[in-house]
Amino acid sequence: MVLRRRVRTKRDDLLEKREAALLGGGQRRIDAQHKRGKLTARERIDLLLDEGTLLEMDTFVEHRATDFGLDKQKYAGDAVVTGSGKIGGRTVFVYAQDFTVLGGSLSEVAAQKIVKMQELSLKNGAPIIGLIDSGGARIQEGVDSLAGYSTIFHNNVWASGVVPQISVIMGPSAGGATYSPALTDFVLMVKGIGQMYITGPDVVRAVTGETVTHEDLGGASAHATRSGVAHFVSENEQQSIDQVRKLLSFLPSNNMENPPYQPSSDPATRTDDELATIVPENPNQPYNMLDVLHKVVDNADFMQVHEEFARNIIVGFARFDGKPVGIVAQQPDHLAGVLDIDSSVKAARFVRFCDAFNIPLVTFVDTAGFMPGTDQEHSGIIRHGAKLIYAYAEATVPKISVLTRKAFGGAYIVMSSKNLTGDVNFAWPTGVVAVMGADGAVNIIHRGEINNAENPEATRARLISEYESQLMNPYIAASRGMLDDVIDPIDTRPKIISALEMMANKRETLPTKKHGSLPL
Ligand code: HXC
Repeated sequence: MVLRRRVRTKRDDLLEKREAALLGGGQRRIDAQHKRGKLTARERIDLLLDEGTLLEMDTFVEHRATDFGLDKQKYAGDAVVTGSGKIGGRTVFVYAQDFTVLGGSLSEVAAQKIVKMQELSLKNGAPIIGLIDSGGARIQEGVDSLAGYSTIFHNNVWASGVVPQISVIMGPSAGGATYSPALTDFVLMVKGIGQMYITGPDVVRAVTGETVTHEDLGGASAHATRSGVAHFVSENEQQSIDQVRKLLSFLPSNNMENPPYQPSSDPATRTDDELATIVPENPNQPYNMLDVLHKVVDNADFMQVHEEFARNIIVGFARFDGKPVGIVAQQPDHLAGVLDIDSSVKAARFVRFCDAFNIPLVTFVDTAGFMPGTDQEHSGIIRHGAKLIYAYAEATVPKISVLTRKAFGGAYIVMSSKNLTGDVNFAWPTGVVAVMGADGAVNIIHRGEINNAENPEATRARLISEYESQLMNPYIAASRGMLDDVIDPIDTRPKIISALEMMANKRETLPTKKHGSLPL
């Protein structure tokens, strides 16, 4: 028998090249990545997409730079893995930066790979997700790298409001790598490994003398609670991938589609007796608005956005009778649900996102108004509060509101009020619309009478009681049609579902303009 040597085929070449590409920066760096408790770019994509759906692109792209030793080693695919795939059966585009290749830094060609995904996402009306793990602009490539960021940022802006854009921070996100996520709709960060900053601790120390750790400077906790940059935080990478998949289940693929319907096992007519007693008798006693939300939405399933930032307002996604909505709600349990700078900005951004993607807004109101004081005034509460007014006034999606307790002054106006083009405005019998609370009002309008009275305290108490009984109720606003109905709290869910059904075909367009001038 003659043994024939097998001839190496072109297919063998391909398989070999592909295998090398799968190793990114090599086994040593993959091991280092794992040792830090981090997955590789490809492992992350595998977790994110429905099994076996990745269509990888630009696997064999290599950087072209030759300066500073870059001619010595090239990596197939360079520092980012890109492609399309499915999440929940729907097409998405994805890019995952590969830290094993030159720290995931952005070269000219890495930028071109990302830009290709952005363009395909826009052309095909499908969301784009970036998994970020990058040391920023590739230092050796200078202006070519910076130019790459420019194009990515430009595309982020052009896609804004057309396709959902999501960024997950799974490693360093330094310098230019921060601003693309900042331009996207949602930023998710993994605790302990995701860090975002314009300049790292070394530069901070050199410039300001301040000593700070990577985590304290730009970790998930700092951005979730203080800066508001992060919308979601997670304990580990798997959890953040789960968050992305769940978030997308509420969103349409693009601005021309309606949000995805999911049949609900929760009856549309379900009432809840506990809602009748959830608002305390004492108007100054807090309660947890999340309890209200969990009782009214489908299967108590509410996905909170920006959970740890500006906790005096709650925003997030839920479904009513299977259809996604965006919920904005005051949280009386935190700072009495006051509207301050952070809560105004948080809610305004959420309202604009929902409006851009045809997601109806359901607003729960209980607030004594805007936060007084020099700190807020001097930091620009007027400018920032105006953003929320602007967002609600501009939104053309169905707008439903439920007044559970206080709607005083500017806060009444802002929170989806009828004259700010709220479509359906409900109140519970505990709801109160007034310019201000009884104490403050009586001190202003009856100051003379109180000061001249024989017993000022008794007079003040009588006047407060009169003010409360005459003005502190929902019926004056209801008599003027500014509240459409005062409802039994137990019926809140069926009433909201009926209102959403009634408004399902709402069509309203803004006057022709290039764009408005949002008070930034
Ligand atoms: C080229 C880079 C790089 C970069 C890291 N590497 N960042 N190569 N350009 N920007 C390489 C390292 O040389 C190293 O290569 C490998 O990636 C891993 O980096 P390490 O430093 O060993 O990792 P680690 O200790 O984990 O630190 C990660 C890091 C740090 C925190 C990201 O590398 C770092 O501070 N990098 C620079 C961050 C930065 O300032 N970027 C520029 C920002 S300016 P080897 O071969 O050893 O594996 C910018 C311009 C736009 O982005 C600004 C717009 C606002």
